[in-house]
Amino acid sequence: MNDTSVIILAAGLGTRMKSARPKVLFELCGEPMIIHVLKQAYAVSNDVSVVLYYEKEKIESVIKDIFPQTKIYAQDLANFPGTAGALKNVELSGKKIIVTCGDMPLVKATDLMRLAANDADIALSVFEAADPYGYGRVIINNGKVEAIVEQKDATETQKMIKSANAGCYCFKSEVLREILPLIGNENSQKEFYLTDAIKIANERGLKCWAVSVEEQNFMGINDKFQLSIAENLMQYEIKKNLMKSGVLMRLPNSVYIDSRAKFEGECELQENVSIIGECLIKNSVIKSGSVVESSVIEDSDVGPLARLRPKCEIKNTHIGNFVELKAARLNGVKAGHLSYLGDCEIGCGTNVGCGTITCNYDGKAKHKTIIGKNVFIG
Ligand code: UD1
Ligand code: MG
Repeated sequence: MNDTSVIILAAGLGTRMKSARPKVLFELCGEPMIIHVLKQAYAVSNDVSVVLYYEKEKIESVIKDIFPQTKIYAQDLANFPGTAGALKNVELSGKKIIVTCGDMPLVKATDLMRLAANDADIALSVFEAADPYGYGRVIINNGKVEAIVEQKDATETQKMIKSANAGCYCFKSEVLREILPLIGNENSQKEFYLTDAIKIANERGLKCWAVSVEEQNFMGINDKFQLSIAENLMQYEIKKNLMKSGVLMRLPNSVYIDSRAKFEGECELQENVSIIGECLIKNSVIKSGSVVESSVIEDSDVGPLARLRPKCEIKNTHIGNFVELKAARLNGVKAGHLSYLGDCEIGCGTNVGCGTITCNYDGKAKHKTIIGKNVFIG
């Protein structure tokens, strides 16, 4: 969507995580929360901004590593706190502007696109909550969205409303430009609420439409328990998609797969396998209890109970139990039991016998071990 830009709000303090680490840098399935949000944002638009405050430099450097084109803004939190305050310094470009949150890592690009795919002046994401406590309540009269009232400002009657503001919006740019300066902070938290845009838009006869969304996708992460729930949901999604595309999994609930891992051809993962980091696995079987990290495995079988540490490349190879590999390139090799093979290259037809280790660290430097073709290590 070339005419649509995305703004991600991530200036909140995240105190409920009870951690010095900024909330949006906590990882789910191997990648920081903010990176998941950015991936979905960039699937919608190439104009993406993030609003930061707390630990801005740290978060900015994580973002720029992967998405250098991202525009970063700092919120003036002292003078303009709140979700509308966050937008104060942001350059509002494009025809439409989607606003989403840095702590909602399960929101999908398709969810955001649905918010933009209508003629509303403001489209807001709404779900019917079983327990709406904590959410802004959406006041709808005769199908017309009239206002959002925050939990802390709601009357007892308004608290009974189950329609909850999920927290993402799509604005026509000119509407946001016009309304933003009109939002005040006369509320219990003395914050500038973006949700007040709805009431103001209504007073001006503009169209505010509710787009109903799935509550689960819009869950916000506030504490480490919610983080674990979201990570589980993301794992479920990753594994479901992989199984549908042909990966066989034994007891998938016990398997962990990084969101960056890729599989090709026919692969099998047995129970208790962990695939960590950017792995590529082609036509291979990873047996029970094995851990594979940032490695490439092709036409091979690994485990049970084997460990591949980062930067291994193995092809046409058999790795058995209690074998540890690190930065190892093996092609056409058999290493059936109890070995450590690190910083090495081993050639085709070589058999690595039980108890073999590459002893190539002299206490100061790590050297490389090269073992040629058709070697028999007994
Ligand atoms: C907000 C909505 C509420 C909605 C809920 C959905 C407002 C006023 N309320 O409430 O209606 O039901 O989300 O989850 O918008 N942020 C900033 N700067 C700030 C404050 C917040 O960037 O000054 C960011 C936060 O980092 C977060 C997002 O905005 O990513 C939402 O803020 P949060 O404090 O979680 O708002 P809620 O109180 O949950
Ligand atoms: Mg929140």
